[in-house]
Amino acid sequence: MNTNIISFNEIIDTRGSLIALEAFANIPFSIKRVYYMYNVQLNVMRGEHAHKELQQVLICVAGSCTVRVTDGVDCLEFKLSRPDQGLYMDRMLWHDMRYFSTETVLLVLASDHYNESDYIRDYDLFMKFSKTKIGE
Ligand code: TYD
Repeated sequence: MNTNIISFNEIIDTRGSLIALEAFANIPFSIKRVYYMYNVQLNVMRGEHAHKELQQVLICVAGSCTVRVTDGVDCLEFKLSRPDQGLYMDRMLWHDMRYFSTETVLLVLASDHYNESDYIRDYDLFMKFSKTKIGE
């Protein structure tokens, strides 16, 4: 499954820490959009969709949350709790985010502009699409 943790190089000096994110350096695509979620209520689940083409990197710049990723066959769970780590997710991976702490800020870098028609929000449809892909 094409999802993995990316470790970012921290630039630390006496003033604190800095991380730079750069397309095709430590982010494996051209960054066309950045969004972030915060003030996520306890016990809320976000995500619960897949993207036909979009690639993303998720970074918990504050607090923590848990991301579950599946390609329809295997399922992986990642706890994000460090600003120096990002979770890369390729296209066609169903994902959800849970267990946000009150201070969590989840930053997302995306490979394209927002496009609702790129979303698959129905799990059965996702399974149908991914089975077609596996059978190709
Ligand atoms: P949604 O995709 O449901 O969030 P989650 O990642 O938790 O599944 O997005 C919530 C709302 O925000 C929805 O109405 C679409 C809108 N939205 C944008 O307008 N632009 C964006 O870049 C994103 C990610 C969402």
